[in-house]
Amino acid sequence: MNSIQPVNVGLLGIGTVGGGTYTVLARNAEEIARRAGRPIQVFIVADSDIDRARALVGDSCQVTDEPFAVVTDPAVDVVVELIGGYTVARDLVMRAIENGKHVVTANKALLALYGNEIFAAAQQKGVTVAFEAAVAGGVPIIKALREGLSANRIEWVAGIINGTTNFILSEMREKDLPFADALSEAQRLGYAEADPTFDIEGIDAAHKTTLIAAIAFGIPVQFDKAYVEGITKLEALDIRYAGQLGYRIKLLGVTKRRQDGVELRVHPALVPEKRLLANVEGAMNAVLVKGDAVGATLYYGKGAGAEPTASAVIADLIDVTRAATTDPDNRVPHLAFQPDQLHDLAILPIEEAETAFYLRLTVEDRPGVLADITRILADEGISIDAMLQKEPEEGKGITDIIMLTHVCREKEANAAIRKIEALSSIRNYVTKIRLENLQ
Ligand code: HSE
Repeated sequence: MNSIQPVNVGLLGIGTVGGGTYTVLARNAEEIARRAGRPIQVFIVADSDIDRARALVGDSCQVTDEPFAVVTDPAVDVVVELIGGYTVARDLVMRAIENGKHVVTANKALLALYGNEIFAAAQQKGVTVAFEAAVAGGVPIIKALREGLSANRIEWVAGIINGTTNFILSEMREKDLPFADALSEAQRLGYAEADPTFDIEGIDAAHKTTLIAAIAFGIPVQFDKAYVEGITKLEALDIRYAGQLGYRIKLLGVTKRRQDGVELRVHPALVPEKRLLANVEGAMNAVLVKGDAVGATLYYGKGAGAEPTASAVIADLIDVTRAATTDPDNRVPHLAFQPDQLHDLAILPIEEAETAFYLRLTVEDRPGVLADITRILADEGISIDAMLQKEPEEGKGITDIIMLTHVCREKEANAAIRKIEALSSIRNYVTKIRLENLQ
């Protein structure tokens, strides 16, 4: 790039986010140029739907259905990858890097799985791979972690980073709906895709948490070690009981530094309703970061959608433009820490995670049942924090007991649950949901 010419962007994919990126770049062109030091323009667009692309961009730039022509085009300075997935997108990003292009991407799946090789290739080539849009859409959490909080030893991060599931959980709570009905509603309103697997099974949130963990602690991306549990098995009943105890259930991405390693997990969790994070409703995202110096900071906003995500993509384009003339060694490192300073802290298995627990037990309503249960918990060193017992339904002789425990190791909770489930007075399996106090 020289200092007079505009920066030429090759846009791969002009669907929702690509369209938003094109629109915002055009609408705010003057302010963006004032910030970046030079204009940033879409030079060429690749999309399988050429008519759609042409309808949006008119004659303002070239349009092609051949994305490899974009990543090898000598006139392109920065490739914006908005195709998604990790097959073609991976080849395109690697080819762009080989050709000396900077890359801006919203593709969390690609980076969570192949980030280590992609960042290494970029480092070697002296180009940047920027990915603010990959985590929490328009919320600048990557920037905050990588730059704003760089004085801190980050202790933990907990986020609501999947809008689809947060919308479904809000619907389940507010309307007392079962999961399947809330999912249908999310699909009807366009919050959930026709195939919602990545969202509802927690995979999308795990991709994002993997990236957060890498940047927070200076470790390689390790999606394969993440514990991933979605919301498909959550029952409206548990959301109701949690509410009676003063908690809301959220799908959290949690990563925590411990002496012996790093916790990296995505699962539904009870959060005290007095916490701001518990009050993030609908499709919104929020990330809570605990640093040793700053304390807790919270980042909130839209985690998806055309212009919110474009906001993050364009912020990266501006950063890349500003940094283009700097020595690559002096740029902000991809994973916040210098590449030769990454640590190989172990990702801990979920059995070693430390959380409190919500346990729901369906039991026979007769003397000694509660005593048996509390004895098992005591034997495993698990302390009870709160308890709720429902009146038995007339004539049925069984009732629900809900217990909240203090923090313990997951393997201790599992051992206790196995013993409790073996009691003759217990009907069904014990329902276990983790609880995060976020203090
Ligand atoms: N599918 C994601 C969500 C948005 O529901 O939040 C893109 O990351």
